[in-house]
Amino acid sequence: MDLDISGLGGLGDGVGRLADGQVVFVPGALPGDRVQIAVVGKRQGVLRGQLLALRAASADRSEPACAAFGTCGGCDLQHLADAARLAHHRQLLQRVVGPRVDVRAVAVPAAGHRRRARVHLRQDQGRLVAGMLAARSDRVAEAPHCPALDPALETVRQRAPAALADFFYLGELAMVRGSQGVVATLTGKVRSAPPTAQELCARLAVAGLRYRLGQHADEFGERAVRLPEIDPPWEVWTLADGFCQASEHGNRALRAAVDAALAEAGPLDRAAEFYAGSGNFTDLLLRRGAKVVAFEQDEAACAQLAASARQAGWSDRLRILHGDVAAQLAAAAGHGVWLLDPGRPGAPDLCAAAGRLGPRHVVYVSCALDTLGRDARTLAGHGFAPVAATAIDAFAWTTHTEAVVHFARA
Ligand SMILES: C[S@@+](CC[C@H](N)C(=O)[O-])C[C@H]1O[C@@H](n2cnc3c(N)ncnc32)[C@H](O)[C@@H]1O
Repeated sequence: MDLDISGLGGLGDGVGRLADGQVVFVPGALPGDRVQIAVVGKRQGVLRGQLLALRAASADRSEPACAAFGTCGGCDLQHLADAARLAHHRQLLQRVVGPRVDVRAVAVPAAGHRRRARVHLRQDQGRLVAGMLAARSDRVAEAPHCPALDPALETVRQRAPAALADFFYLGELAMVRGSQGVVATLTGKVRSAPPTAQELCARLAVAGLRYRLGQHADEFGERAVRLPEIDPPWEVWTLADGFCQASEHGNRALRAAVDAALAEAGPLDRAAEFYAGSGNFTDLLLRRGAKVVAFEQDEAACAQLAASARQAGWSDRLRILHGDVAAQLAAAAGHGVWLLDPGRPGAPDLCAAAGRLGPRHVVYVSCALDTLGRDARTLAGHGFAPVAATAIDAFAWTTHTEAVVHFARA
């Protein structure tokens, strides 16, 4: 049957309605498309359609930048024009914060935006292949060129099969690019004893490499890299398999949005930062003169954060609490401003405690609008209302977005 697509679901599927009002989700279809579909399933009252033919294309359709689009699980919205994708993310965030807040949307150049990646290495018909996994699969989607990866990471990905094939069987190469170049961590199974890490650095053209391969372990060169977008005297360092914001441009925009929210919050006295990582946002609080308590469970990130504070001469205003946020919430009492940047599960315990622990401002950085929405409802129950919101297209070509929302207590 033919169907007009009128919306885009949160997972990037086109959404249309049959003549009888039933909703159909169609992977690969976009708002404005007229498509021929076959209904192939039904879940929780919603039909699932398979796109058979494109009768008329949406004006927002664009040519995917990657030959593997459609099979690769890395990017799921390359067929939507950049401006339309940004508008879509803005609209999703608008739903979270409600109609009274004017949502800003910040574009991030898509080509080469990913400076952090986990490249999968698999055997395919007797050959070692390197790339992202195919959607809903354990196979690598072979892309002759990955346009989303930072060019330096893409060079390493291209080199990896030939560089590793003589000893490596299956595993992962985690990589990040910073000011000193690319550092990588190799894990997995080998067929024979690996060469030294120094030799592999040369083969892969990386500034540092660590590997743990069964009983074999070695490391050479740089262990961590510095993020180039952070101004002195602060420095943010990240390990190849640690966390850092995946896009440099995206992180500049995130930091600018957080800083604008902190400026709006007024003079900072004592601030609590949750999910601080290695200090990507901590300096924004310290630069404004705050005394900061930072919560983070990753030991290596805490060590990097402490070293950055020492080196900047700000240790006396920073207390780092290593461990699970939920177990140490009492330490957040009496801090007027909260800054939080949880992973995809969000921060339900923290938001539930916000009424009791009494911050005036909550600046929430989110990479998952569904859990942000849930936590915003919890905060609303404690008298917090969103006053500013920014969507940042830091995961360009995908359905994911970053958001910064400033909640203030009435
Ligand atoms: C999205 S990252 C943000 C890190 C940092 N804000 C940044 O921009 O690089 C989330 C961080 O939360 C930490 N984390 C996750 N769950 C946690 C928990 N329950 N308690 C404390 N830290 C946690 C992770 O180790 C990670 O560093």
